[in-house]
Amino acid sequence: MQGNFSYHNPTKLFFGEESLNFLKSELTAYGPKVLLNYGSGSVKRNGIYDQVTAILREAGKTIVENPGVMSNPTLEKLHEGVRIARENDIDLILALGGGSVCDYSKAVAASVYYDGDYWDQFWLKQQNPDAGQRLLPVGCILTMAGTGSEMNAGTVITDAANTFKVGHVFDDRLMPKFSILNPRFTMTVPDNQMKAGIYDIMNHIMEQYFSGSDDNTSDYLSEGLMRSLIVASRAAVKNPQDYEARSNIMWTATWALNTLVGCGKEQDWMVHMIGHSVGAWTHAPHGYTLAAVSTAYYRRAMKAGLPKFVRFAKNVWNVCDEGLTDEQVAEKGLEALKDWMIEVGLPLTITELGATADMIEGITKTTVVYPAGYLDLKPEDVTEILRESL
Ligand code: NZQ
Ligand code: ZN
Repeated sequence: MQGNFSYHNPTKLFFGEESLNFLKSELTAYGPKVLLNYGSGSVKRNGIYDQVTAILREAGKTIVENPGVMSNPTLEKLHEGVRIARENDIDLILALGGGSVCDYSKAVAASVYYDGDYWDQFWLKQQNPDAGQRLLPVGCILTMAGTGSEMNAGTVITDAANTFKVGHVFDDRLMPKFSILNPRFTMTVPDNQMKAGIYDIMNHIMEQYFSGSDDNTSDYLSEGLMRSLIVASRAAVKNPQDYEARSNIMWTATWALNTLVGCGKEQDWMVHMIGHSVGAWTHAPHGYTLAAVSTAYYRRAMKAGLPKFVRFAKNVWNVCDEGLTDEQVAEKGLEALKDWMIEVGLPLTITELGATADMIEGITKTTVVYPAGYLDLKPEDVTEILRESL
């Protein structure tokens, strides 16, 4: 294990079919006014909204509603949430939904008491709030597995007017105070979103795993998580109502991106940078945008980071190395990844997401590019990866 790091994750988790029962006692720690953020209506259709609002009422809370938090939440919607929170003197923000609602809630929590242009300060300049700034507490009731937003300080916001999607990972003051993870709540997630979530989880692990050359405990943890995800995803795709599989997917998602497996790692995240830009242009589900550029990206990275790709093939995909060169073993690992992606039903090209050749210049321009993982990409490399992903 090389490097120095600190690890602190303050989010309290409640997991399982009975986990919503813990909400009422958690609420006692906060004042009476709760801003309830949710999406486009799935929580009303599946009954989760009724369960949550009943508990809020029992706990004597005043509910201020902010529905319509869209998938890939926009800057315009962020402004609206900040305005509502300011007008209502909110004590707690409760996110009821997937990663979009959780991200959005943290973004509002950071911005309400910032005196200035929060978009410029937090997302464009990537700053954190000053020590003295008040931040609203956030609690999450997660309805979709994928992003890890329930236990991290990430907030991805899309400036739709400028076709620019950008994330800021705040410091741990913005991590949710608590998150409630009931796998049963994810059973109504549409098929495409379940699959997008599965690949998002896989890719979060890969973004952290494919870096460095030291023997690192984080990589062993990552391999275990990937193996679990592969087993669970196969079962969930066959039978989406398989509770065991869905619960493993949900728990894996949390550990894939709650900073643990990134400890002591340089990390990559360029698939996410390209994926975010593809998402801004196509509005495709986040995990799909990652899947669609991954084949071209990892083929490149493999050449530069061969030993780790050999290890990936052997430890994650059980590739037998007998009689094969390292390059052949690594290639077999990437083939196994691709076969699994096909089995899950993931897109392998950006064309499937609606991207066209004439968008490539724009997608490249809005991609944040930096040296990462095993590659030192330049914008022209991103253009090539996008062309290869058509
Ligand atoms: O709008 P609602 O009604 O909530 O419907 C949502 C949405 O249409 C639906 N859904 C969620 N739970 C459901 C459900 N439908 C039926 N039953 C349920 N139980 O699914 C759709 C997608 O939801 P969304 O929250 O957008 O998906 P996801 O969890 O993948 O979040 C995506 C956002 O998170 C960001 C992405 O960029 C994207 O903006 N990310 C956040 C990260 C973080 N905080 O660390 C990291 C990720 O890499 C990612 O960038
Ligand atoms: Zn992601």
